[in-house]
Amino acid sequence: MKGKFITIEGPDGAGKTTQVRKIAQYLKSAGKNVLITREPGGTAFGEKLRDTLLSPGIESPVPEAEALIYAASRAQLIKKVIAPALLGGTHVLCDRFVDSSLAYQGWARGLGIQTIMEINSWFIQDWWPDITILLDVDPALSISRLNRARDRLERETMDFHKRVREGFLKVRDMFPERIVTVDASESPEKVFNAIIGVIKNIL
Ligand SMILES: Nc1ncnc2c1ncn2[C@@H]1O[C@H](COP(=O)(O)OP(=O)(O)OP(=O)(O)O)[C@@H](O)[C@H]1O
Ligand SMILES: [Mg+2]
Repeated sequence: MKGKFITIEGPDGAGKTTQVRKIAQYLKSAGKNVLITREPGGTAFGEKLRDTLLSPGIESPVPEAEALIYAASRAQLIKKVIAPALLGGTHVLCDRFVDSSLAYQGWARGLGIQTIMEINSWFIQDWWPDITILLDVDPALSISRLNRARDRLERETMDFHKRVREGFLKVRDMFPERIVTVDASESPEKVFNAIIGVIKNIL
């Protein structure tokens, strides 16, 4: 049987990586095969693109270039990692996926959610997530959780981060069967319990 493809989305500092680890632990202790990956990156080629996208200090890509590089990293990840794992019966947990592009490049950068959908639909095809957890939180709170050096996108203005949140909620409304919102202002344990409540239904 094919594995389930689960993606975790939300703004910077929402708790995605924290929850991906907890979900993986939970699934492994239930005897499931699990693979964790992330975007951008997750492949050797994709990690190079990630460095290019996130390191501050170089010339910033124009929004169109940014959108295409994210898409390139995603195409590589689907073919090299996600599809083979799912076909082999492994569940895949992905820390950000296409909905981040729809929210950041489509909405917050103003390229249009539909435009980003078209670029990505071209190669995602059969590999849309089975379920997507959207960690929703006021960016003022989530950004305040980041006590490390900020990357290029995290250095954006609070206005930008507010548009990202708005974008995610619009995308959720476009895919109400696939995307489930979880209140990420709660403690990590409460957030985790809410996520497990959702994931149990598809396993
Ligand atoms: N529910 C929570 N409440 C308070 N702090 C949290 C919560 N979840 C995670 N944190 C803390 O907030 C910080 C950011 O969490 P994490 O790295 O999981 O977020 P992220 O969404 O993966 O961020 P990024 O987008 O930067 O990768 C970490 O220090 C983490 O320990
Ligand atoms: Mg993270």
